[in-house]
Amino acid sequence: MKNILIIGAMEEEILPLVSDGNYTKHETKPYTYYEGISYGKKLIITVSQIGKVAMSSCVQHFITFVANSDLFDEKKIDLVINMGVAGAISGKLHQGDIVAADKLCQHDMDVTGLGYEIGLNPDLPSVYIDVRPLVIDAVKKAYDALSCDYELQIGTIASGDQFISSKEKRDFISTHFDPLACEMEGAALAQVCAANDVDFLVIRAISDMADGEAPLSYNDFKEKAIVNLTELTKGTLKNIK
Ligand code: ADE
Repeated sequence: MKNILIIGAMEEEILPLVSDGNYTKHETKPYTYYEGISYGKKLIITVSQIGKVAMSSCVQHFITFVANSDLFDEKKIDLVINMGVAGAISGKLHQGDIVAADKLCQHDMDVTGLGYEIGLNPDLPSVYIDVRPLVIDAVKKAYDALSCDYELQIGTIASGDQFISSKEKRDFISTHFDPLACEMEGAALAQVCAANDVDFLVIRAISDMADGEAPLSYNDFKEKAIVNLTELTKGTLKNIK
């Protein structure tokens, strides 16, 4: 049976999934986590808190913890999933739609002062980190099996330690990275998973359009976006081989 770690940056992003299953809650430091078997998978579900540093630390913590504990017999995590909300950068997305990343980048990584390409961390081989196609296929299959009133789009997600709520910032990200959506953690998860040779999936529901209206529409729409996301994540978990 596959061992899967699911992380949301905020509690509200994972609680609907947690309430759908039967999990044991472990109130440990620094992370409280839920653990149990659902959808034919052994799951750990937890909250990283917001931002790239928080996400990196959380992913590495659980990869190391599982390697050194008896939680999973195999002592390894097969897949890490990040579920949450995102702001749309592409004009073809609407609130409630879902984006599954096929590659991720950090829009706030800037070592251009030393002559590097915008977005490139000089320690990494490229600006973008790719997701294994097999994992995305599981999302597509889940979407096709549901009759949804929202769209699924596959493409780039750009992460940075900024809530994007201005035309200037949105245009900057669009011009340099051409992503479908922006959020604050996915690329950090991708980088840590890649360094540990662990598969990963970043799946996000659009809560706002990353523009001047974003703070209001984010709060109004977050809950509905997470309902759609939880439905698709459950289907995806069932499809993971
Ligand atoms: N998550 C949801 N909306 C966002 C936005 N506009 N910017 C960054 N992260 C987000």
